[in-house]
Amino acid sequence: MLTAEAPLSTPVRAEILALAAQEPHPRGASVAALRLVQARLGWISTVHLREVADLLGMSVDDLDGIATYFNLLFRRPVGRHVVMLCDSVSCWIMGREPLCAHMCRTLGIRPGETTADNAITLLPTVCIGHCDHAPAMLVDGTLHGDVDTATLDRLIDTLRDTP
Ligand code: FES
Repeated sequence: MLTAEAPLSTPVRAEILALAAQEPHPRGASVAALRLVQARLGWISTVHLREVADLLGMSVDDLDGIATYFNLLFRRPVGRHVVMLCDSVSCWIMGREPLCAHMCRTLGIRPGETTADNAITLLPTVCIGHCDHAPAMLVDGTLHGDVDTATLDRLIDTLRDTP
């Protein structure tokens, strides 16, 4: 099993090189390569970032700039499920703050943190393009709109029961 400190496996390294070979410049595969690594471990450790940078012929700083630019790439460990609650203007107007406070109280964490059982990480995110159904959020990449506290409570119960 891949850990944050263990080197990438030979097949993963080969997949990254194959992605790079499809691009005019290997750096064109940077996001796909980082997503591939994240799919294995759930996040991108510094050890793996260095390996990917080496495989793509990029500096670690350049690749880290890409990894930290995209909201859906995680440079720190996250829980089994990631809830990204939009904190842009439409969602804020439609009650995002009380929802966030409710979620924090229920989970016993603050935004940016993960529950003690490692089930749920709560992250803020910029507008996810679902403003007409604000407040909105992404749960493990799936869009949810018109969110209220009852929705959140059901969601939290489901996520805690889902491996
Ligand atoms: S402001 Fe929240 S989805 Fe656009």
